[in-house]
Amino acid sequence: MGEWWQDGVIYQVYPRSFADSDGDGVGDLAGILARLDHLTALGVDALWLSPIQPSPMADFGYDVSDYCGVDPLFGTLADLDRLVAACHARGLRLVLDLVPNHSSDRHPWFLDSRRGRDSPRRDWYLWRDPAPDGGLPNNWLSHFGGPAWTLDPGSGQYYLHSFLPQQPDLNWRNPAVVAAMHDILRFWLDRGVDGFRVDVIWLLIKDALFRDNPPDPDAPADARPFARQLALHTADQPETHAAIAGLRRVLDVYPERMMVGEIYLPVDRLVRYYGGNAAAPGLDECHLPFNFQLLLCAWDADVIAAVIRDYEAALPPGAWPNWVLGNHDRPRVASRVGAMQARVAAMLLLTLRGTPTLYYGDELGLEDVAVPPERAQDPAGLREPGRGLGRDAVRTPMPWDASAGAGFTAGEPWLPLNPDHATRNVAGQDADPHSMLALHRRLLALRRATPALVQGAIGDVAAEDGVLRYSRSHAGGRVEVLLNFTATGRSVAVGAGTILAATAGRDGSVAGSVRLSAHEGLVVAL
Ligand code: NOJ
Repeated sequence: MGEWWQDGVIYQVYPRSFADSDGDGVGDLAGILARLDHLTALGVDALWLSPIQPSPMADFGYDVSDYCGVDPLFGTLADLDRLVAACHARGLRLVLDLVPNHSSDRHPWFLDSRRGRDSPRRDWYLWRDPAPDGGLPNNWLSHFGGPAWTLDPGSGQYYLHSFLPQQPDLNWRNPAVVAAMHDILRFWLDRGVDGFRVDVIWLLIKDALFRDNPPDPDAPADARPFARQLALHTADQPETHAAIAGLRRVLDVYPERMMVGEIYLPVDRLVRYYGGNAAAPGLDECHLPFNFQLLLCAWDADVIAAVIRDYEAALPPGAWPNWVLGNHDRPRVASRVGAMQARVAAMLLLTLRGTPTLYYGDELGLEDVAVPPERAQDPAGLREPGRGLGRDAVRTPMPWDASAGAGFTAGEPWLPLNPDHATRNVAGQDADPHSMLALHRRLLALRRATPALVQGAIGDVAAEDGVLRYSRSHAGGRVEVLLNFTATGRSVAVGAGTILAATAGRDGSVAGSVRLSAHEGLVVAL
C-alpha cells in the first residue's frame, strides 16, 4: 500500500461546468456536493477542483482576488467546508487549485502595488521602467498573445503578466510574497483540504536581470509569436526549485497532504521538480509533477512505448509516476484519438504505473463541442482569434441525463451542452454495460482490486505492428496489457491467462496468441 496520492486516481472537476444547483447556468459547490455519488460509483479517490476562490473571472478563476475565500458564484466557505466533510466521509480526498504565479489585477495587493512607486507593496509584483526608447522593458510575451507587459500610466512603469493584463505576476523573489503564500496554504490545510494542484509552478520565478528571450531556431515560421521564442528567462529558472521546496515544507507539517505541479517541460527537466539534486537526492518538491506527455505526443504505439520507457528511466529513485489524458486546457481525448480509440486510451491511463488524472466527462467519451463565436468565453481564444487557442470546447457542461438542461442546470448553461447530450449522458451510460462509463467503472474497480496494477513494476514495454504491450508485476501476480492502436485486427502472442478486462466486452481465457479486433485492448492475468 502506498500513499493515497500514489494508489488513488484523481478526478478533475471544472467547477463552472459540473453541476449547477441554483439555475444560474454556472456550476457550483452545492452542485458538486449533490453529485458525489457519481464519483463514488465511478471509483476515483480524489477530487481536484479548478479554482473556486473569489475572482473577476477574467480567466475563469485563474485570476484570484482573494486567496482565502470562495467566489459567490460557487457558494460560500461553509459550502466548501461541507464539501470537504462530505468527501472525507466517503473516503474521497479534496485537492484545490492554487494560483500563486499571478493574482487578479483587482486583488488588494495589486491595487496597493499600483498606487505608486513608493507603495509598500510595489515590490510584490514585477514593475519595470520603459526601455530607453520609451518602449517595452524587454521582449517577453504573454502566453495568451501580445506583450507580457502593460503600462501603468499613473507611475509610468510597466508590470509583468505572463497571461492576461488582468493577471499580474507576483514577485516570488520577495520574501513577503512567499510568506503570504505560505499563510494561504495553511489557511486551506487547516480547513482539511488534502492538497493543491499548483498552477504554472514552473513559471514562478523570472530572470533577475529581465534579459530578452532568444528566438527558437526550431520554431515553424508560421508559429504564433509566443511559440517562436525560447522561454529561457521566463520559465524553469533554477531558483524556482527552492520556492517549491518552501511550499512543500509548509505542506509537510500536515499529515497526508499532496502537491501536484502543473509543468509543461521535456522529461529530463520535468523530473527535477520532484526535488533534490545529485548531491542531495531527497524528494522535497512536488509529490507529482504533472506528466502531460500523453496529451502532447502522437497517438502511436511506438511513440507511446518510447514515452513510457523514457519517462520510467528518467524518474529519480523513489519518485512516483503519474499520467494525464485530459484537462481544461487541451483538446479532449475522444476528439484527439476518436471514439473507439478513446476506450484504448482509458485502458492505457488506468493500467500504467503511476497516479492517473481523469478529466470530468472523459469517462463518458465526451468530445470537444463546437462553440459558436457569439458564445465564445475563453480569453485565450478571444485574444488571438482564428488560431484555435480557445478552450471553451473542452469545458462544456457535464451531461447528467437526457433532460433539456442535461441535469446540469435548470437555466441557460454558460457554455452550450454537447449536441449529443440526449444520448451521451451519465444516466444513459449508467444503464448500458457496454458504455464508456461502464468501461471506466470496470477498469477502476479492477485497478483497485489488483495490486499489480497499483503497486506493480512495469516491464516489457514494447510496440509491434501498432500494438502496445507491457506487463505489471507484483508479488501478488502479473498482468499483461495489450492495446491495439490501429483500426484493423492484430494477432499477438500472449502467455496462458485469464482476461480481466477488455475494451470490447469479451472475457474468457487466452493461451499462446490472441486476435485483437480494431481498437481493442485487453488486460490479461498470467
Ligand atoms: C494554467 C491553467 O491550467 C490555465 O487554465 C490558466 O489559464 C493558466 N494557467 C493561467 O493561470
